[in-house]
Amino acid sequence: MPYAQRNKNVLHHPLQKIMSKTSCFARKIPLNELPQWSPWPERLLGIKGWQTPRRTVEKIDSEYDKDKYADCLMFVKRQKEIIDASDVKNYELRSGNLGKICISRKGKLYEMPADRIADFNANLLTKYAKPFMKKVDTVVEIGCGYGINLWELSKKYPGKKYIGGEYSKNAIETASMLYENSPLISVKYCNFYDSTYNILEQCGANSKVLLITRHAIEQLPTAENVIQTLSQYFDRLVAVVHMEPIHENCDNTLLGMMRKKYTKMNDYNQDLLSIVQNRNDIEILRNDYDVYGVSPLNPTSVLIWKPKEKQRKIT
Ligand SMILES: C[S@@+](CC[C@H](N)C(=O)[O-])C[C@H]1O[C@@H](n2cnc3c(N)ncnc32)[C@H](O)[C@@H]1O
Repeated sequence: MPYAQRNKNVLHHPLQKIMSKTSCFARKIPLNELPQWSPWPERLLGIKGWQTPRRTVEKIDSEYDKDKYADCLMFVKRQKEIIDASDVKNYELRSGNLGKICISRKGKLYEMPADRIADFNANLLTKYAKPFMKKVDTVVEIGCGYGINLWELSKKYPGKKYIGGEYSKNAIETASMLYENSPLISVKYCNFYDSTYNILEQCGANSKVLLITRHAIEQLPTAENVIQTLSQYFDRLVAVVHMEPIHENCDNTLLGMMRKKYTKMNDYNQDLLSIVQNRNDIEILRNDYDVYGVSPLNPTSVLIWKPKEKQRKIT
């Protein structure tokens, strides 16, 4: 009997449905096999050398703007036919991964065909955004790259404004080509480290905004400035959905400890949850650990919060 059918009485969480489909083709991978899938166990144990980078904007510039997004932009410019953001995503994934990859889900490792990642990403995002989509007129994503998440959401929820903010000029140019004929989607310059965010200013105080981030705050060793800057816009934020690795969620299992070390060795974010928890003007709605990890040592948690009622204008 298919997995989904056997478990049809327990499919009460939106993600269980997605994961049950995954489970149909996923083999469980024992933690001991991780070194066959990733160079990281050897680096974490000091068997192979590794130089910890400082995750500055210069690092973002070389890793994303000059490398990944310059390549995406060339790919888009080479095309003679019209393509969309999902074609660019498939190009990105194909160039990195062929065949099967090791993913994580709730602290367990599974084998998954690489060509399922893009669909899987899109489904996960739309499921978590769904409870808010009727309440908002605008979706803003900061650190959006060329806007793949905005594109996927816009297909499912048309008629809303989708505004991306991004540091990389090559990603912004790629987006301007991809959304030339989609006036409701735009990607503009925005730097997490700024003290105001133009893309949120332009929404106006009366708009109702869902803000999303996905593996973007991970790029900031501390999230202090982001949350402080966002607090200026609490009047328009209906909710914030972070699909980010959350360092503080890592437990003291062997895998959890490896993840903590991985974060430190990459100078990734370590304080997003603590900063949100320590604010008395924020209410946390959800914090799901390891909903899945395309990189199992850097898994995606989903942290959802909203400004407490008095911060939003009563309309
Ligand atoms: C791992 S990628 C994720 C992109 C996109 N959110 C996604 O889900 O595909 C991280 C993104 O964060 C952006 N980023 C990093 N630091 C930033 C900063 N200081 N301001 C704005 N964007 C930044 C990078 O340029 C990159 O697009």
